[in-house]
Amino acid sequence: MARKLAAGNWKMNGVKASLGEATALAEMFPAPKVDILLCPPATLVAPMAQALFGTQVHVGGQDCHMKTSGAHTGDISAEMLLDAGADHVILGHSERRADHGETDQMVAEKTVAATQAGLSPVVCVGETLAQREAGETLAVIRQQLSGSLPDVVDLKKLVIAYEPVWAIGTGKIPTLEQIAEVHDDMRATLVARYGDGAKDIPLLYGGSVKPSNAAEIFATSNVDGALVGGASLKAADFSGIVKALE
Ligand code: G3P
Repeated sequence: MARKLAAGNWKMNGVKASLGEATALAEMFPAPKVDILLCPPATLVAPMAQALFGTQVHVGGQDCHMKTSGAHTGDISAEMLLDAGADHVILGHSERRADHGETDQMVAEKTVAATQAGLSPVVCVGETLAQREAGETLAVIRQQLSGSLPDVVDLKKLVIAYEPVWAIGTGKIPTLEQIAEVHDDMRATLVARYGDGAKDIPLLYGGSVKPSNAAEIFATSNVDGALVGGASLKAADFSGIVKALE
């Protein structure tokens, strides 16, 4: 059985005052039945890890470099995230692929860097609306999984997030049948490549998840949790999603 994971991606939102939302969430779930993860912007990783020290809420980064150190102005390494108190890192989010030209190959190299540092990578894949309308969804997802994951990877650390680009921040979500089709196909693809150990890789759905639609999404085949954007910023909203997963 894959572990259940409710992950929040704060994206480029949040300042020190926002840490109150993180500590409020931790207080609501002193002994959560599922894993809870918050991924704030890089400036808040260390202070959030400090604020959440001793709680059951995990902290993650939103990206890392594929190299461990060196002349890469503006970048941070997986080791730096670990040093700041993170234990996860989101990789290959569609916003990074679009804004920073990240390719599958780069995401695969970052995935290696993250696992070598001891972080759990949350590797994101997802089709555009044009690709879905052209009937290319499964082919696109298979291609992204193939290219964004290395041949050798610590399956116990790996997490995959399926985020249809057209569902992010739009209030639109695929039908439950469409989510199941992709998640079942991702599971089969991963098992075919990595063997039975891939049955335990958490497969998250992301894109307009809210407290009101979380339960039905979590009841869908091969959905082990969610990667949540907007609704993870407030403890009052995110707690409803965590409860739906518990
Ligand atoms: O990584 C999470 C994300 O892209 C989904 O965002 O705001 O639609 O939940 P949102």
